[in-house]
Amino acid sequence: MPTPIILDVDTGYDDAVAILMAAGHPALHLLGVTTVAGNASLAVTTDNTLRTLDAAGYTDIPVIAGAHRPLLRELGGSTDAQNQHFGFPRQREATPGYAVDWLVQTIMASAGDIVLVPLAPLTNIALALHKEPRIARKVKEVVLMGGAVHGGNMSPVAEFNIWIDPEAARSVWQAGWPITMVGLDVTGRALIPPEDAARVKALPTARAAITGELLDFCVQREVLGWGKPGAQIFDACAVAAVVDPGMLTTKHCFVDVETTGTLTAGMTVCDLDGQTGHTPNCHVGLDIDYARFFRVMLEGLGG
Ligand code: BDR
Ligand code: CA
Repeated sequence: MPTPIILDVDTGYDDAVAILMAAGHPALHLLGVTTVAGNASLAVTTDNTLRTLDAAGYTDIPVIAGAHRPLLRELGGSTDAQNQHFGFPRQREATPGYAVDWLVQTIMASAGDIVLVPLAPLTNIALALHKEPRIARKVKEVVLMGGAVHGGNMSPVAEFNIWIDPEAARSVWQAGWPITMVGLDVTGRALIPPEDAARVKALPTARAAITGELLDFCVQREVLGWGKPGAQIFDACAVAAVVDPGMLTTKHCFVDVETTGTLTAGMTVCDLDGQTGHTPNCHVGLDIDYARFFRVMLEGLGG
């Protein structure tokens, strides 16, 4: 039986690749996609999500719009590369309703087997927890892209999804549900080199063709522009880890989010050595097996 999953996204190029992998992978059943402000405004992230799914033929997967801003802070901080408006053809409107309500209803009506995969600032998820705390016991697992054990991409210590809405992220880590954190330590070790991007592009599906365009953009910018060995498709790593958790090396430990630090807001503080004495609440990703990651990507986009 395929694993039922829900993606929460702020589509952006890497969210789009993750969505297409999830929609197409035989081991997953994508129940719906909720959208939130992050990489771009809610209007743009919702439009990009619809265009991604519709262009690949997945017009029956519901897309539900959620929070248009973080809980307490102003939206900001994204680059032009994040704030992209896709040109893929769109065939429908978003499903009526509010993502937070849809998340609560869908999770509470489930058999307790849903894997929730947030790939964006955690605003919708925090609001859903606030509305119905019992979702924390109904969801099978949360596998999220966000945070970092070491370093950051918005400050020396903060990753984008957490930095945008640290208060929301803190409540997600405090909810008591099983969390796997796929942060920058993992995604930075899954860089897709140009030759693998070409292999994706050669797959005979609409979703692979769309992904090929997105990967071309990333390879152009990151490999040819910045001299990196490959393109970092952050959100795809979390989806891949749902299919094949063994691709990750993890440590079960206590994680909390800094919300008040003047230099450190949005930092995921990972107590790898148990110094706080707090009970572990997260499987923190430390490394990823690239070959297994790329195999799942091919499975999701091909066939
Ligand atoms: C995360 O931030 C966003 O720009 C990406 O979509 C990804 O979810 C990486 O820091
Ligand atoms: Ca994202």
